[in-house]
Amino acid sequence: MESDLTRRRFLGTAGAAVAAAAASQTSSAEAADKPSAAKPIKIISICGSPRKGKSTATALQVCLEAAKQVDPDGIETELIELAGMKINGSLAAGIPLEPGEEDDFPSLVPKLSDPKVAGIIIGTPVYFGDMTSLCKAFLDRCIVFRKNNFALANKVAGVVAVGGGRNGGQELTIQSVQAVLFCQEMIIVGDGRPTAHRGATVWNSKAFDGDVTKDEPGMDAVKNLGRRVAEVARRIASAAN
Ligand SMILES: Cc1cc2nc3c(=O)[nH]c(=O)nc-3n(C[C@H](O)[C@H](O)[C@H](O)COP(=O)(O)O)c2cc1C
Repeated sequence: MESDLTRRRFLGTAGAAVAAAAASQTSSAEAADKPSAAKPIKIISICGSPRKGKSTATALQVCLEAAKQVDPDGIETELIELAGMKINGSLAAGIPLEPGEEDDFPSLVPKLSDPKVAGIIIGTPVYFGDMTSLCKAFLDRCIVFRKNNFALANKVAGVVAVGGGRNGGQELTIQSVQAVLFCQEMIIVGDGRPTAHRGATVWNSKAFDGDVTKDEPGMDAVKNLGRRVAEVARRIASAAN
């Protein structure tokens, strides 16, 4: 009986200690989230749609805007659309370009490896339950970062998938992209609270007439993802100072 009471007392004390620790963590976390004189960071988004300025690009713009709102003076954002770029995935395996064949990937390397870039958001349409071949070619070519001392390591990563179906494979697609990003030692986050799932799933329904911003739950998720990437990226950048 006594030992039971003692154990209960211990658990009560331990519970209070955990709660106090959590409260102090929350307050220091809140402090870390406050816009401050923290060093400026950049968040880049890569759009893997072959169609420039369409639904995936729109969703990513909303996502980046939410990221910027975390600290408008301290966070720079840039959307890079792969549409129209020539990215030869086979080069990742050492297959040389054909004579005269163009390749735009090298122009992306300095942008992505810039130390100021603390977060990268990958967006892709869902093609048969997975990312587009353009997005995959881009990610395959990112092997150069892995081979160069993991230049993308510890950058925060989030994923947006846009599908024409309400349940068209967005989550599968997000996981497929994340599986690649894990191999780069990136820090992968999902959409933040209150949605808090694996990433932003967006529905480009025919009923929206091409305006994906009409997908309200999808827009909530992309905003939460942008905010979450920005908040974690800022904390990591501050800790690395
Ligand atoms: C080849 C192809 C395959 C597709 N497969 C799927 C699919 O499996 N699931 C889905 O929800 N939508 C699918 N879609 C629809 C696109 O994901 C959807 O239209 C998306 O919004 C296109 O993005 P974008 O507007 O940025 O190009 C497919 C489209 C194409 C062209």
